[in-house]
Amino acid sequence: MTPTELAALHAAAFTRDRPWGVDEFASLRDSPFVELYTRPGGFALTRTIAGESELLTLAVDPAQQRQGLGRGLVQDWITALPPDTTHAFLEVAADNAPARALYLSMGFAQVATRRAYYARASGPAVDACIMRRDLTYGHTGI
Ligand SMILES: CC(C)(COP(=O)(O)OP(=O)(O)OC[C@H]1O[C@@H](n2cnc3c(N)ncnc32)[C@H](O)[C@@H]1OP(=O)(O)O)[C@@H](O)C(=O)NCCC(=O)NCCS
Repeated sequence: MTPTELAALHAAAFTRDRPWGVDEFASLRDSPFVELYTRPGGFALTRTIAGESELLTLAVDPAQQRQGLGRGLVQDWITALPPDTTHAFLEVAADNAPARALYLSMGFAQVATRRAYYARASGPAVDACIMRRDLTYGHTGI
């Protein structure tokens, strides 16, 4: 996927958050330690440094949600991690029930909270939940 396609899909999926620009995706995609996982209709962007891997963003086309794409992309990420990766983590808005349910069902647990982290156009800012999944050495995926 090109940076333009990534930005368009991201804007379609994230209706309440600031959309990431084409330049941001171009710069991230070319950054060291960053990996892009794609499936038709969705993508995941991750960064892995010193045994820790972060899910930077995950987006599925609204017309193709609830068909297993999000789960598949998280699976692609975890499966591809080097065997010495100790844990995978991410941040998700407390009011994003679909994403939190997805991560919980894939072995992530909430380990911390950032208060009032995500601004909302109407209403108060919402907390960010930091979720983490510990990985055993040589993990084979999900
Ligand atoms: C979160 C997101 C990536 C999930 O992608 P998806 O392809 O729809 O998810 P899947 O079909 O793989 O669903 C996997 C599991 O997630 C949970 N889930 C997904 N959508 C859900 C919803 N609308 N309500 C409740 N649970 C949901 C369920 O546990 C589901 O398993 P099930 O279908 O067996 O019940 C997608 O909704 C999305 O792009 N949302 C907007 C962007 C976003 O919030 N990204 C994550 C930011 S941290």
